[in-house]
Amino acid sequence: MAVKDTAVEKAAWTRKDLIGIEELTREEVELVLDTAPQFVAVSERQSGIKKVPLLQGRLVVNWFFEASTRTRTSFELAAKRLTADTLTMNASVSSAKKGESLHDTLANIEAMHSDIVVLRHSYAGAARMLAEHHASSVINAGDGYHEHPTQALLDAFTIRGHIRRRKDDPEAGLDGVRVAIIGDIAHSRVARSNIYCLTKLGAHVTICGPRTLLPVEGERMGINVTTDLREAIRDADVVYALRIQLERQQKCLFPSLREYIRLYRVDKEALEDAPPNVLIMHPGPINRDIELATELADGPQSAVLEQVSNGVAIRMAVMHLLLNKS
Ligand code: CP
Repeated sequence: MAVKDTAVEKAAWTRKDLIGIEELTREEVELVLDTAPQFVAVSERQSGIKKVPLLQGRLVVNWFFEASTRTRTSFELAAKRLTADTLTMNASVSSAKKGESLHDTLANIEAMHSDIVVLRHSYAGAARMLAEHHASSVINAGDGYHEHPTQALLDAFTIRGHIRRRKDDPEAGLDGVRVAIIGDIAHSRVARSNIYCLTKLGAHVTICGPRTLLPVEGERMGINVTTDLREAIRDADVVYALRIQLERQQKCLFPSLREYIRLYRVDKEALEDAPPNVLIMHPGPINRDIELATELADGPQSAVLEQVSNGVAIRMAVMHLLLNKS
């Protein structure tokens, strides 16, 4: 069955790669969001046949140098639902272990005619470096502290869906929507991509956490910055808790986990002053009852698993746009 390209009348996609949200225009972000609903529909088909042949015969390579559950499986599923061939390269047993460079490895993969390479790497800039020197479309699946663009796109898509249902307006966007991002902002590629994405779409973003975990450039990014959790979430439409990277504690960036929980855990008590229908989000993996209380993560206001479902549709949209353009 053909999938209708409803969104391409609004804007055109011309990029070879998706490296970060920072360089995208609002129109490009909206194009991805507007392309995704048709792929949600594919995943929810009554027939159970969750496939469209938009990437038939194409090769998508998943290349992850860091642990991942959601992003890796989501890209693999997205590629399969587009009928692409998929190849997963396990970095721990690849020739990178023998000292082969990223360029040489990708040149060898390209000799087997790859079309898309999905890369997660601890080096901020790895995806861009490969994109600039290779013909394959490179998708950044998270590079160091830099960006995680598809996470931000699926988050914006999830928020937009809730706002549209709340307002009963199928055209509503994110203009004026208030999003509070809580936790380790300074070391979070998810936070960075979300700040770029949400502010481009007209949302008001507040970041909140211990001073040592807030980026120095916060105010320059045109967002509110506070260390007071209750202040951050008082008017929020969305509260987005970030994973506390426990390894940071060894660097003494916050005094103790107990202290962090007391001041920054998103729980029912913290939400006392927040609007009653505030949406709870988290990119995963969750440290339960550290940055987010279990009762909220699993509660009726939680969009955590919806984020994961939407991730497949967003990644299908991105791969479709990259290879089929408009
Ligand atoms: N949100 C996210 O990137 O999760 P994974 O690390 O499991 O991919």
